[in-house]
Amino acid sequence: NTNEKFNIAIDGPSGAGKSTIAKEVAKILSIDYIDTGAMYRAIGYKLGQNQVDLTDKNALRQLLEETEVDFEKGDTLLDGEVVNDKIRTPEASKMASVCSALPEVRTKLVALQRKMAQKKSVVMDGRDIGTNVLPEAEFKIFLTASSEERAERRFKELQEKGQQSTFQQVLEDIEQRDYHDTTRKLNPLRKAKDAVELDTTGMSISEVTRKIIDLVRCGR
Ligand code: DC
Repeated sequence: NTNEKFNIAIDGPSGAGKSTIAKEVAKILSIDYIDTGAMYRAIGYKLGQNQVDLTDKNALRQLLEETEVDFEKGDTLLDGEVVNDKIRTPEASKMASVCSALPEVRTKLVALQRKMAQKKSVVMDGRDIGTNVLPEAEFKIFLTASSEERAERRFKELQEKGQQSTFQQVLEDIEQRDYHDTTRKLNPLRKAKDAVELDTTGMSISEVTRKIIDLVRCGR
């Protein structure tokens, strides 16, 4: 039944190609794409801009209460402002990683993410979608790739944007982020038991997209 509502959860480490693939899949299936990483980035960015002391729980709670994160036509909105580029800097990445370990931040964003997936079909990508945000998702994909390949992809991306960094730096960043994401206490990056694991090392974007689309079409 093609009118049925369904959700697709895509999880995996940084640089595995989640957002590129998720966007493609959403486009082909004509459903919404929810980038949960962008939501952590937006909060991290705002915390950095406001120089909030993260140990000051009252300040943190107040800022979260006054913060709105949303998506509109593929843009990430922070309090109504498009922040697509501002949340992609190395500083914002670091702040996103740090703030994603804070229970106050996760509680707010996970509730928001569930709400976004409740009424309509979505492709949602992140770290804890299949395990925590949408454990009932109809389709769960766990995307991986070697850390060298992921660093290579990110390095090229940064070069194209004219940002200065070395491959070694990018690789170290990725490995550090993997460590953070998999060892944090709260909703760490883990493959859900019922997720299909796809190692994308050496695969093209269209090959990976095709695999996921086939999976969804077979399962519906
Ligand atoms: O996927 P990304 O690199 O844009 O994610 C930014 C940060 O947010 C990253 O450190 C992991 C974290 N994150 C998370 O903890 N849970 C999610 N569902 C998505 C991202």
